[in-house]
Amino acid sequence: MHDATNNTRKKALITGASSGIGYELAKLVAQRGYETVLLARRKDKLETLAAELSEHAPSFVVAGDLAAEATTTEVVAQIEQTHPQIDLLVNNAGFGKLAPFLEHTDADHRGLMQIHYFAPVTLINAFLPGMLERQRGHIINVASIAAKMGPWGHSTYAAAKAAMVSLTQSLAAEYPDQGVHFNYVNPGIVVTEFFDGEGYDAMSQSVRKHGIDVHKVARAINKLIDKPKLELCVPRHYRMLDWIKAISPSWAQRIVAKNSRAR
Ligand SMILES: NC(=O)c1ccc[n+]([C@@H]2O[C@H](COP(=O)([O-])OP(=O)(O)OC[C@H]3O[C@@H](n4cnc5c(N)ncnc54)[C@H](OP(=O)(O)O)[C@@H]3O)[C@@H](O)[C@H]2O)c1
Repeated sequence: MHDATNNTRKKALITGASSGIGYELAKLVAQRGYETVLLARRKDKLETLAAELSEHAPSFVVAGDLAAEATTTEVVAQIEQTHPQIDLLVNNAGFGKLAPFLEHTDADHRGLMQIHYFAPVTLINAFLPGMLERQRGHIINVASIAAKMGPWGHSTYAAAKAAMVSLTQSLAAEYPDQGVHFNYVNPGIVVTEFFDGEGYDAMSQSVRKHGIDVHKVARAINKLIDKPKLELCVPRHYRMLDWIKAISPSWAQRIVAKNSRAR
């Protein structure tokens, strides 16, 4: 069991590590020997995972709500104190709400934007300067295929993920060739607790049956650490949407609307 941090060991901060993609990815990252900082709200789940990861490398838990600005600022300041050096930042924490636009409250819109856009911005602001100084770092933002074309029921979710994608692209443009990689991931439908969220019981079986195994997504992100590339789509064939959009955005919109409709 490893119990001490050391300065030569690479350090990874993974948000949303208490379940799903982040949980499985954290295991793979720890197996690489990274010291991990695990962030989410459910402290008990994070602590159980951290105990498991400690077999490979030290692992630390930070519990906090990234859907609220105040707690985001608080937990990021806390991590800056304990872990000023982060080499790999994975902005993965997130949730959705499946409902038409007019059934979202103002708090829904703001919470979705906070967790998928402003929390990553706060984290990047905290840890990018150090990465640039050391000329070494990797920021992976877990977006969604919804960022490519707004589907039914995910208006602000898709907008927040599209903002996350554009942010990643601009960072890659602004800080090239400085040893820091900026990548985003667009998963399709992945079988996780995400679908326990508000409104997803209405999601039709035909949509859900396209769900892919969470391990496949975690493994693909893990590979991205060795071979960074701007965009990773899982499954890969979802990139076809770009081609359809290039031919006709209206056609692409109709396909997505038809296939995402939950009720
Ligand atoms: N599943 C899919 O089909 C799918 C598709 C495309 C993109 N994604 C994206 O992939 C990412 C991971 O989702 P997943 O599928 O792995 O779902 P998941 O199993 O529900 O995991 C979501 C993670 O985010 C954390 N989280 C949720 N709300 C939070 C909050 N307010 N503050 C801090 N942490 C919070 C959860 O932990 P706590 O509940 O403990 O806080 C959990 O660790 C999300 O950004 C999601 O939008 C998922």
